[in-house]
Amino acid sequence: MLLRIPQVLDQAHLALFRQRLAGAGWADGKATAGYQSAQAKDNQQLPEDDALARELGGLVLDALGRSPLFFSAALPRKIYPPLFNRYAGGQSFGFHVDNAVRYDRSGGRSEPVRTDLSATLFLSAPEDYDGGELVIEDTYGVQTVKLAAGDLVLYPGTSLHKVTPVTRGERVGCFFWLQSLVSDAAKRRELFDLDRGIQHLTQAAPGHPGLVQLTGVYHNLLRRWAQC
Ligand code: NI
Repeated sequence: MLLRIPQVLDQAHLALFRQRLAGAGWADGKATAGYQSAQAKDNQQLPEDDALARELGGLVLDALGRSPLFFSAALPRKIYPPLFNRYAGGQSFGFHVDNAVRYDRSGGRSEPVRTDLSATLFLSAPEDYDGGELVIEDTYGVQTVKLAAGDLVLYPGTSLHKVTPVTRGERVGCFFWLQSLVSDAAKRRELFDLDRGIQHLTQAAPGHPGLVQLTGVYHNLLRRWAQC
């Protein structure tokens, strides 16, 4: 499932991010790529221990914490600290699959994070650059994603994906992976659909006794499937 989560960051946050990232210490993105993806990867990235990346990454996580849609779709168990990248001057990232497990080394530990879901938060306005589409091969075919600044796309960590060459302007983005409480994508989808149905019914028929049963089913399925 591919899901767009609109307006994760508001205009004030976007302006702050752009201003701070303009003077950031960008480095070669190959530093965090595995052997195979390093062949395909040509971009810039902030180092994982970069103080600015940590600070802005924290703001992204705070914003996601206020998004019921993100929580419902992802059911996050562990989120890898958000990273930042930049493409310009024809840079691209060819087709690859992300590593299955990333080790979060923030805070002096080494915490494995299974990459059930990948996320890209667009920070540049789409009219400010040409190319730079995120192309994802999902089970339902090829999807091309280029979102408004502040919007986020959530997609399966299992998918082949690439970023097409940026031939004008620059494309700055934030990306991260997360481990879900529910590793099975099909089960996670069932829970998401059930939750959305319950939300619709709560609006349409507030106080209906059937909502108590449906909500019970949601939580009892989550209890059976969650890996804490
Ligand atoms: Ni990737």
